[in-house]
Amino acid sequence: MEIMKTQDSIFANRPAFDVAKKILYGPKDVGFSPYGEYWRQAKKICVLHLLSNKKVESLRQIREEEVVHVVDMIRRMQSSKGPVNMSEIMITYAYDIACRAVLGKKYSGEEEENKVWKLTRESSALFGAFNVRDFFPGLGWLNWLTGMDAKVERHFQEWDGFLNQVIQQHQEGNNDLLNTLFSIQKDETNGFELGMDEIKGILMDMLGGGTETSFVVMEWAMAELVKSPEKMNRAQEEIRRIVSEKKTVKVIREEDTYRMSYLKAVIKEVLRLHPPSPLLMPRESMEETRIQGYNIPAKTRVIINGWALGRDPELWKMADEFQPERFLSDNEVDFKGHDFHYIPFGSGRRICPGIGFALSSIELLLANLLYWFDWKLPGEKQPQELDMSEASGLTVCMKNQLLLHAALHQE
Ligand code: HEM
Repeated sequence: MEIMKTQDSIFANRPAFDVAKKILYGPKDVGFSPYGEYWRQAKKICVLHLLSNKKVESLRQIREEEVVHVVDMIRRMQSSKGPVNMSEIMITYAYDIACRAVLGKKYSGEEEENKVWKLTRESSALFGAFNVRDFFPGLGWLNWLTGMDAKVERHFQEWDGFLNQVIQQHQEGNNDLLNTLFSIQKDETNGFELGMDEIKGILMDMLGGGTETSFVVMEWAMAELVKSPEKMNRAQEEIRRIVSEKKTVKVIREEDTYRMSYLKAVIKEVLRLHPPSPLLMPRESMEETRIQGYNIPAKTRVIINGWALGRDPELWKMADEFQPERFLSDNEVDFKGHDFHYIPFGSGRRICPGIGFALSSIELLLANLLYWFDWKLPGEKQPQELDMSEASGLTVCMKNQLLLHAALHQE
């Protein structure tokens, strides 16, 4: 609270990362930009134009079409009786939605892997790799020697080539974020100055910031529910009760999810137990200050362990257990950055601007998956046997892919 609220203005900087500088055009994105005038402008563009409630709402057709696509696919797969690879289905869904919403079209086909997924995965690996220049600037030449610089340069060229091609082939008039950025660029009255590097940097945040993270929430949600059949029943009963009030259903629409309070509690509980970015994003102090009696020099890097806060037994009852009910009885606790024991999206000036975008696609897919199908582990495996180990990485997904048996629900 001291860092993210009381002294937020001192700790609102991000450390400078060598990889971010090279592959994010300076950096000219929002997430890694140093605190200052450019960051303020770019964040404002995200909050007011790209990720506002109104914009998110205007993209609902994309979400509904992609959900129908997923449900149809599982329907076809379940008839063959084999297990369904839910991890693969849900990550493809997250990337398809992001690509359509941001760039106007999907970049995956039946045969080919989604290009944005491939590039984002490679970027994450480079961000996660130890970079000598970040810690010992004087030894930066080692990066040249080990081939790190060449690798980063090659990766940047691939991203840049891809984005240039997307921009060249892009259709005007579509309701996607790239067109919104172009109209902001053209409008001289709004005071924003956007060059091509700035547009490409912001696009990379929109593509990379919300895909893996949203996927992780959906993956853990399905895993936790399959592991606790009585919670799964409760979620399904609520969804089926609300939807049964309608006569014909092809897809559960977004407005149907507004009243699904148990489903919302499930998602909140997943964000508590499995925050997709467990260590949030690092901050850096901009001047010397004091915290709880300690002197903190300027340029101190701060890492906040959101995962540990969510599981602290002094802050939560039955801290390690999956209990969505806790958010029904205490629905005051929210992830909007005011409750400092629960900050999966961060807090303060640097809080995530994509909460609404993420939740809308997560809720809609989960509601449909739980409505149309009954789920269990493949074969004779019992729910408690599901391996809940975490993989290591910047975003923490399940260690093993989630394979489930789906059966079309019969009334
Ligand atoms: C479940 C999904 C998501 C989670 C858990 C998540 C989490 C986070 C966290 C922890 C931060 C750092 C906050 C801080 O430093 O206090 C962050 C920042 C950010 N997120 Fe998200 N995020 C999600 C979805 C999204 C989506 C969908 C987008 C955009 C389409 C997005 C774009 C960003 C950006 C641009 C920032 C940087 C903000 C800044 O530095 O000012 N995120 N997110």
